[in-house]
Amino acid sequence: MRFHLSAVVGSGLALLFLVLGAVQPYALELNLTDSEVTCLYAKWQMNFTISYETTNKTYKTVTISEPHNVTYKGSRCGNEKNVAKIMVHYGSALSWTVNFTKEAPDYLVDSISLSYNTSDSQFPDAAPKGIIYVSDSPGLKIPLNDIFRCNSLLTVTVPSVVQQYWDILLQAYVQNGTVSKNEFVCYEDKTTTPPVPIIHTTVPSPTTTPTPKEKPEVGIYSVKNDGVTCLLVTMGLQLNITQEKVSSVININPNSTGFTGSCTPQIAQLRLNNSRIKYLDFVFAVKNENRFYLKEVNVSMYLVNGSVFSVANNNLSSWDAPLGSSYMCKKEQVVSVSGTFQINTFDLRVQPFNVTEGKYSTAEECAADSDLNFLIPVAVGVALGFLIIVVFISYMIGRRKSRTGYQSV
Ligand SMILES: *[C@@H]1O[C@H](CO)[C@@H](O)[C@H](O)[C@H]1NC(C)=O
Ligand SMILES: *[C@@H]1O[C@H](CO)[C@@H](O)[C@H](O)[C@H]1NC(C)=O
Ligand SMILES: *[C@@H]1O[C@H](CO)[C@@H](O)[C@H](O)[C@H]1NC(C)=O
Ligand SMILES: *[C@@H]1O[C@H](CO)[C@@H](O)[C@H](O)[C@H]1NC(C)=O
Ligand SMILES: *[C@@H]1O[C@H](CO)[C@@H](O)[C@H](O)[C@H]1NC(C)=O
Ligand SMILES: *[C@@H]1O[C@H](CO)[C@@H](O)[C@H](O)[C@H]1NC(C)=O
Ligand SMILES: *[C@@H]1O[C@H](CO)[C@@H](O)[C@H](O)[C@H]1NC(C)=O
Ligand SMILES: *[C@@H]1O[C@H](CO)[C@@H](O)[C@H](O)[C@H]1NC(C)=O
Ligand SMILES: *[C@@H]1O[C@H](CO)[C@@H](O)[C@H](O)[C@H]1NC(C)=O
Ligand SMILES: *[C@@H]1O[C@H](CO)[C@@H](O)[C@H](O)[C@H]1NC(C)=O
Ligand SMILES: *[C@@H]1O[C@H](CO)[C@@H](O)[C@H](O)[C@H]1NC(C)=O
Ligand SMILES: *[C@@H]1O[C@H](CO)[C@@H](O)[C@H](O)[C@H]1NC(C)=O
Repeated sequence: MRFHLSAVVGSGLALLFLVLGAVQPYALELNLTDSEVTCLYAKWQMNFTISYETTNKTYKTVTISEPHNVTYKGSRCGNEKNVAKIMVHYGSALSWTVNFTKEAPDYLVDSISLSYNTSDSQFPDAAPKGIIYVSDSPGLKIPLNDIFRCNSLLTVTVPSVVQQYWDILLQAYVQNGTVSKNEFVCYEDKTTTPPVPIIHTTVPSPTTTPTPKEKPEVGIYSVKNDGVTCLLVTMGLQLNITQEKVSSVININPNSTGFTGSCTPQIAQLRLNNSRIKYLDFVFAVKNENRFYLKEVNVSMYLVNGSVFSVANNNLSSWDAPLGSSYMCKKEQVVSVSGTFQINTFDLRVQPFNVTEGKYSTAEECAADSDLNFLIPVAVGVALGFLIIVVFISYMIGRRKSRTGYQSV
């Protein structure tokens, strides 16, 4: 095709295209058969960028994209006992595995894992030498007897490794030896290239939304300026992403979440990241020279299907309190960043300016906390008082009645 096109354009270009063509990675292809009958078929492209620590505590990256020399040893079709599996070995230093489990009426892309040997010469100067294993669970469901197609570039990030996949055609648990013509097209293709010829798409069984669940664990995040703490945030953080009317709620585990930021007298920023969150920025600003508030949230996340979800809003007015104090809200609070993204916080306390000695200043508590804190005891007190009065009055009336009763006898 490329040659064809360039022949029309000119021989100079043809040469260029040929050179580029040679550099382009070639697709991986696997046609597994069981008694000469196809049971798993896959054709796709992928590359990996691995970052690793070196002997002098710096980081290096290697990119693995060359599919010429791969072997597929260990791949299998799957049966009642074993899950279907594709394994790709890039030499002896790196292997990639994806498992498919059958959960009628679907099959599930259960886990994608990568193991690599930093002792190998492909990882020059690696400091901790040995086998490193990383894994991710995309939880992608594909109807049985459908072939999954995704031409868009999907990015999956796990600690230390960025994986990219594209031009995917895949069917595990092929029925009756015939690769299906029913395409199950990925979300990214549907949104980016409208005229995808969808021959037939079985509507996937409404995926059960992973609804948390418990409250998120409370994390403490801080930012330093010249070694002095200038911003403090304590919160349990829950993210709520709504796509195609389906919400997924993610609890942030502070143990595996990194944080950085910056402080200036007028603007303070806290940035969180982890394997799922490329960045989640909270930007605080000063207003009227005497109050602070959360002005902006800017997020970019990797979704389970590998796509990137980004939202920004710089017109917020949450978490408002006087400068020199902190803002506190024990109750769940919702920051609506956009129609598709909301942040739920629990046990929140935040001070983005004027932090002294690394400690929070006095707190201004949110309305939600104080309303209920005040109202419950007041209501209980009023009700109790009322009850006492009622009991007292009926007692008095009763006494008077019985007294008059005796007198009349
Ligand atoms: C896979 O291999 C089988 C048996 O060799 C063959 O009949 C079939 O056409 C192949 N399928 C594809 C999609 O290449
Ligand atoms: C991996 O492949 C994608 C798609 O061709 C490309 O955009 C990306 O730059 C590649 N990554 C590396 C590190 O080569
Ligand atoms: C660390 O080692 C690499 C080569 O292994 C070298 O390029 C780099 O400059 C070194 N960095 C430091 C800080 O010594
Ligand atoms: C690549 O393949 C050639 C022969 O086809 C083999 O000699 C060489 O060892 C292979 N390289 C790797 C890294 O497996
Ligand atoms: C997926 O395959 C790996 C490698 O064989 C295995 O260790 C893992 O337990 C499998 N996962 C599931 C869910 O079957
Ligand atoms: C890792 O690579 C080193 C060097 O190539 C090799 O000696 C070692 O056996 C490998 N480890 C495993 C578990 O394959
Ligand atoms: C596979 O073959 C069986 C028996 O011949 C048939 O009942 C079934 O519908 C076929 N399945 C598909 C997906 O074609
Ligand atoms: C998530 O957001 C959706 C849409 O805004 C909302 O209907 C749903 O109640 C939210 N869920 C949680 C747990 O906050
Ligand atoms: C986070 O780490 C603390 C202390 O190491 C531990 O008690 C807690 O269970 C961890 N939380 C999660 C969600 O892993
Ligand atoms: C957060 O990002 C920094 C730099 O971009 C990276 O070094 C760190 O590993 C990331 N943290 C997590 C938990 O992914
Ligand atoms: C959000 O962050 C990205 C990357 O840092 C940046 O390019 C973009 O301008 C930011 N958006 C807003 C509204 O600040
Ligand atoms: C907060 O700090 C700024 C300087 O960063 C100072 O001008 C201001 O007076 C402080 N406000 C309070 C209430 O402490």
